[in-house]
Amino acid sequence: MSQTKPQSVIQVRQLAGRIGAEISGVDLNLPIADSAISDIRRALLKHKVVFFRNQHIDHAQQVAFAAYFGEVTYAHPLEDEPIEGAPNILPIDRRRYERKNGRRYSYDNQWHTDVTAVVNPPAASILRAFNVPQIGGDTHWSNLVAAYEGLSAPLRALADGLKAEHRFNANKQFSDSNNPFLKRIQANPLVSIHPVVRIHPETKERALFVNPGFTSHILNVSRSESDKLLEIFFEQVTKPGHTVRFHWNNGDIAFWDNRATAHLAPQDLDLFDVERVLYRVTLTGDIPVGPDGFRSQIVEGKPFGIEVSPLAADRGSVKRQVDTPAVELVPAS
Ligand code: SIN
Repeated sequence: MSQTKPQSVIQVRQLAGRIGAEISGVDLNLPIADSAISDIRRALLKHKVVFFRNQHIDHAQQVAFAAYFGEVTYAHPLEDEPIEGAPNILPIDRRRYERKNGRRYSYDNQWHTDVTAVVNPPAASILRAFNVPQIGGDTHWSNLVAAYEGLSAPLRALADGLKAEHRFNANKQFSDSNNPFLKRIQANPLVSIHPVVRIHPETKERALFVNPGFTSHILNVSRSESDKLLEIFFEQVTKPGHTVRFHWNNGDIAFWDNRATAHLAPQDLDLFDVERVLYRVTLTGDIPVGPDGFRSQIVEGKPFGIEVSPLAADRGSVKRQVDTPAVELVPAS
């Protein structure tokens, strides 16, 4: 029987102590009432990552669902082979990454927050499982507000005034100079300075906004002080008690607040010769602001939004369609 009235009631079930909830009672193939969208947004802000089970939607429906919550970005700032007809979709495909980037199973195999190399990292990400293994392949998410609150008061006060540089290959994950992804990073440098503590624009919570994937160092301290401080901060970011772990089935969707979370792609796929294909979309983010009012700054590159990547722009395909927020340039450190 076809349903004409938009779905208006959802159920939210918390999954772990500090992060994660499953949302049921909604079919993403069908229209969703504004009240249910508001409830999903509220659940996202509270639980930081929400999961929808068994939703068999296509690329266009995934983009349409994401668009209820904000402006959908281009697939990824360094994506050079977007899916034809679906330029907003980033395939997370183990075989594609192994072929193009060397031994990687996902977009980034370390704890990371999506694309913090840009001055306006995505506000949120929506990941859809298309073909995932029955065993293994789980993803973890961590609550960066809990990470901040896990620091002692004197360290929170110190962190409140710090800034850090974020870039691709921050920790020399790619060292082989022939690696195609490393070459792409070097040809299209994206580097930004973010406050170490970010005030969430909607909840006003403080989040510890550093991650092992992208944060290279803390500014205005010595290298060894930076290393030690990052070790303390990353310990909180990756602490098991601040996380939730999700096992995927085909059709499952994870929707996370990228302003308040970090995540970790699977760590066990070495053991299995299996396919793993998911599709991700991201929402355009704002410029992070620290407790002292410091706004993130570009060192190299440009803000990330719905325009195509610098790589594709070189081929002259699509023009920027939105005004990006004004950002100041700072010299490279
Ligand atoms: C991602 O890092 O966005 C994808 C995570 C995953 O592959 O599980």
